[in-house]
Amino acid sequence: MALRVAVSAIAASTACAGAIVGYGYALGGVDRGCSCAKERVRGRERKDAYAREARAFDASVGSSEYWSGIEGMRARLLRAHARGGVVLEVACGTGRNFAYYDPRAVTRVRAMDACEEMVEEARKKPSAVATTVEVGDAQRMRGVKTNSCDAVVDTFGLCSYDDPVGALREMARVTKRDGGRVLLIEHGRSDYGWLNNILDHFADAHAERWGCYWNRPIMKLIEDAGLEVVEKSTHHLGTTFVVVAKPREAVN
Ligand SMILES: C[S@@+](CC[C@H](N)C(=O)[O-])C[C@H]1O[C@@H](n2cnc3c(N)ncnc32)[C@H](O)[C@@H]1O
Repeated sequence: MALRVAVSAIAASTACAGAIVGYGYALGGVDRGCSCAKERVRGRERKDAYAREARAFDASVGSSEYWSGIEGMRARLLRAHARGGVVLEVACGTGRNFAYYDPRAVTRVRAMDACEEMVEEARKKPSAVATTVEVGDAQRMRGVKTNSCDAVVDTFGLCSYDDPVGALREMARVTKRDGGRVLLIEHGRSDYGWLNNILDHFADAHAERWGCYWNRPIMKLIEDAGLEVVEKSTHHLGTTFVVVAKPREAVN
């Protein structure tokens, strides 16, 4: 009996996976790539989506982040690479990273997000490191000096900026040239055309609900911003990216 249940479960999940892959192919052959300029959800509409989601955000993403290993990725990246006098976290959302900063390695965390409701939630989060949270735009960090941060952290922010390359250039500008790092965990388009077709097909609908575009070409954005990749790993069929980068010598 147990064997029959197991065989049926495997058959059902294989059929399901086959149907998803087939659907991806049926949506349109070649991966056409993605252009941020064609995206429908921008500016005010995006901000409203995050304002709407802020209070329920942790409950909405908590268990999927745990089971998909994203919590573990946050912990490993920050414990290994976030260090120094000042760590700047941009698009901090509800502060889901705050628990992972090591007080023996980091003196101060300065966090910011463009959405007031997110900032309010983040301020409630405990942190073992002295942390301040402010409203701020990652694309124009007027209050942050060039070449001043030991690390800049951005997790799942590149999907959400109107100008992701501009935001990355700002991160590079404020990161210290002598040993500073930009630490990223992002999601975006994969190496599989069929999967990208599905992401593209539902991208606007997903962005209307969540404010984020899940089909952006993450590594290309990083390259276009002129950052140098020091370490990189990909997960979840190539849709999740963990990247350690550094600014090139010259300030952009
Ligand atoms: C998908 S959430 C990620 C939140 C958090 N970093 C995390 O890992 O859970 C994206 C966040 O980007 C913020 N955001 C969007 N545009 C921004 C901008 N221009 N400057 C700063 N934050 C921005 C949103 O308000 C939202 O909190």
